[in-house]
Amino acid sequence: MLHNPKNSKQVYVKSFGCQMNVYDSERMIESLIPLGYKATLKEDDADLIILNTCHIREKATEKIYSEVGRLKPIKQKNPNLKIIVAGCVAQAEGEEIIRRQPMVDILVGPQSYHKLPELLTHSNSKHVVLDLDQTGKFDWPNRGVGNTQKISSFLTVQEGCDKFCTFCVVPYTRGQEYSRPVAEVVMEAHELVAGGAREIILLGQNVNAYHGLGKDNRSWSLADLIWRLSEIPELDRIRFVTSHPNEMTQDLMVAFRDCPKLMPYLHLPIQSGSDKILKLMNRKHTQAEYVEIISQLKSYRPDIAISGDFIVGFPGETEEDFQETLKIVQTIGFIKSFSFKYSPRPGTPAAERERVEPAIQAERLTKLQDLLSEYQFAVQKSSIGKTCRVLFEKEGRFEGQLVGKNEHFQVVYGELPKEFIGRVGDMKIKDANINTLHGELV
Ligand code: 5AD
Ligand code: SF4
Repeated sequence: MLHNPKNSKQVYVKSFGCQMNVYDSERMIESLIPLGYKATLKEDDADLIILNTCHIREKATEKIYSEVGRLKPIKQKNPNLKIIVAGCVAQAEGEEIIRRQPMVDILVGPQSYHKLPELLTHSNSKHVVLDLDQTGKFDWPNRGVGNTQKISSFLTVQEGCDKFCTFCVVPYTRGQEYSRPVAEVVMEAHELVAGGAREIILLGQNVNAYHGLGKDNRSWSLADLIWRLSEIPELDRIRFVTSHPNEMTQDLMVAFRDCPKLMPYLHLPIQSGSDKILKLMNRKHTQAEYVEIISQLKSYRPDIAISGDFIVGFPGETEEDFQETLKIVQTIGFIKSFSFKYSPRPGTPAAERERVEPAIQAERLTKLQDLLSEYQFAVQKSSIGKTCRVLFEKEGRFEGQLVGKNEHFQVVYGELPKEFIGRVGDMKIKDANINTLHGELV
């Protein structure tokens, strides 16, 4: 093994944005182990700092410049410190980052992380790798060696997107849709489970569009993959995120009904309730079609909980359009939601369009979030007195407490011995606040 403890170097990775970045950050750490790197949680001790950036919403670029600026005293203390800007901001901004912030040594886009070890061992000059070809990205060595596995682990199965919603940078920063082959995913799932994972959350920007190549030379759907993973005996739970309404195929709905390991929770962004805005967003579905998909899903799996994403103040959104969004919230009753003011992303079609006044955006966001919170709180409170099954993941904030998630991805905590970590227990809910439930073991 190349690792030489005497020569041990420390890497600090700061991850911004989505779960896929968390996954990528963990893989980057693992890929650096053969070079003698160990992960540290203290930037002051680091020989290498990686900022794994996100470009999805506002001020991403400015945030990264200020993050790099903040590292100046550490760089002054340790001139050998290397700083890497990775991720979607690196991809979108390119070499401009190094021009504006010469402290940055390496820029690496989201599809090129597997080249990191090579970049770090070659010369001292600046490197920029912004290839969008996913080939090789998943050839990570040392999967799991970084001891980053958790009871609930992420596993990227699909990357990139061909949908081109007019507000979204993903097709430009993560590139075309790519699905990992089935065998590779299954192998990684086995490794995760061997390391203690009991829940796997399959990740993809457009995860339900998964179409990975099977050993049978057939293209497997996400449902096929879920069924295959459900054969792993020690794996208790499977989830997936993020889905597009138009890819909610019948085989997935059937899996929600028939596959006991697939949890009844689906994150299915709608973005807006107005057909006019959905069209301007190029979402390729209407409000009625979304409602129909949910109603079909519920006919297969009546207890399924739906969460959503919303954008307010998209260019062209009138008060009537916004009212439609409020209406859809009332129709669907989302268990949890993420809502944002539209922010123009450079290079996307909507960025060229006339904007909604920031004050109006802010006002609409507050109204929407108030309504979403009201619903979320009502759902949380309706759990009181009911029993749910919780997979315990870790110790809670207070002595003697464990925290985990129930079938609907709600956070539940309770007083239980540590031996329950990694196990599923029936919890009777005694109390609820907006984000957590408190229960007792039945
Ligand atoms: N402005 C605001 N929100 C956005 N999202 C994506 N792009 C933008 C943007 N330009 C939101 C969408 C998406 C979530 C991940 O981020 O709601 O589903
Ligand atoms: Fe972005 Fe999702 Fe639309 Fe793809 S489907 S462009 S990732 S919002």
